[in-house]
Amino acid sequence: MALPAKSVRWRVVVTGGAGFIGSTLVKRIEREWENAEVTVIDDFRSGHFKNLEGFRGEVIAQNLAKIKLKDFLEPKAVDAIFHLASITDTREQDQRKMTWDNVESFRRLLEFAREKQIPITYASSAATYGIDARINSETDERKPANVYGFSKVQLENLAAKYLSEPDLQGWKIAGTRYFNVYGPGEAHKGPMASMIYQLYLQMKAGKKPRVFKAGEQKRDFVHVDDVVNCTLLAMNSGKSGVFNAGSGEARSFNDVISVLNHEMETNFKPEYIENPFAFFQPFTQADLARSSKELGYKPKYNLEAGIKQYVAWLEKK
Ligand SMILES: NC(=O)c1ccc[n+]([C@@H]2O[C@H](COP(=O)([O-])OP(=O)(O)OC[C@H]3O[C@@H](n4cnc5c(N)ncnc54)[C@H](O)[C@@H]3O)[C@@H](O)[C@H]2O)c1
Repeated sequence: MALPAKSVRWRVVVTGGAGFIGSTLVKRIEREWENAEVTVIDDFRSGHFKNLEGFRGEVIAQNLAKIKLKDFLEPKAVDAIFHLASITDTREQDQRKMTWDNVESFRRLLEFAREKQIPITYASSAATYGIDARINSETDERKPANVYGFSKVQLENLAAKYLSEPDLQGWKIAGTRYFNVYGPGEAHKGPMASMIYQLYLQMKAGKKPRVFKAGEQKRDFVHVDDVVNCTLLAMNSGKSGVFNAGSGEARSFNDVISVLNHEMETNFKPEYIENPFAFFQPFTQADLARSSKELGYKPKYNLEAGIKQYVAWLEKK
C-alpha cells in the first residue's frame, strides 16, 4: 500500500510499540498523520511506558504469542500492521522460549491479517547473516549464530510460506533487517542498548570507554530515525520480501569513541579487554542496493551526524 495522505484516518497496529524502535515509529506516525489511530500491542517485558509519553492511542498489554487478536481487534478496522515485538535480548539461551515467543507471535498476527490481507511490515535482523564478516546483501545465505537470529530466520520463512499460498500471493509482507540501531529512546534496554550508548555512559561517568581488543571490530551503526524511515518506506512500497536497513557503512568501535570524544569535548583513550564471546560479530555492513532501488531508502545519518544528533539529545535530557 502506498502510505495514505497525511489527513487520512489511518488505523495502524504497532506491536512492540513500547520498545525503542517501535515507540519511535509510533511517535513519527502520530506526528505526521494527525488523524492516525494507533494501537500498540506490547506486554512491557522489555519496553518502557516512558517511551509512550504523549501517546494518543490505545495500548493492549498482552503477550502476542498468546493473545486471541480477534477478541481485541476487528480485522476490518486495521489498515496496516507494523510488527516489532520480539525478545530482543540476544544473550537469551532458552531456545524454546525465544522461538516460541517470537515465531508464535508472528503466526498469530499473520492468521489475524490473512483474511483481509492487511499489509504487514515486520522487524527482522542482521543477526540472520551470522558471523559472516562481509558486506551482506539479502540474497546471501542466512547463517544465524544465536537463537535470536534463528528466530528471525523463522519469521522470514513463515512470511514466505504464507505468501506462497495460492490465494495470498498478492498480500504485502515485508521484512526489514535492522543492523545495529542506536539513538534516542533506547536507555530502557540496559545491557542490550547500543554500544554507542554504553560508551557514552562510561565516558559521561568519567571512565575510560571499554571495548574488546583492539577496538577495530566494525559495525553498521544505524540511527533509529533511519530504520523507522526504512520501515515506513517498506510499507509504502507495497513490496514483499526482505530489505536491509542499515547505514551502509562499517565503522569501528575506535571510530565511535573518537566521534564521542569530539561531541562530548573529552579526550578518553579506550581500555581494551579480552573478548569472551565466540559468536561476537567482527564486521557487519549492509548492502543497501535492494532497499535503495525497491524502497527508495537512503539513510540520512552517517556515524558523525548520527552521534552528533544523539549526544545533543542526551545532553539536553
Ligand atoms: N535495536 C536493534 O539494534 C535491532 C537490531 C535488529 C533487529 N531489531 C528488532 O527490532 C525490533 C524492535 O527492537 P528494539 O530495539 O526496539 O527492542 P525493545 O526490546 O526495546 O522492543 C521490543 C518490544 O517488544 C515487546 N515484546 C517482546 N515480546 C513480546 C510479546 N511476545 N508480546 C508483546 N510484546 C512483546 C517488548 O516489551 C518491547 O517493548 C525487534 O523485533 C528486534 O528484534 C532491533
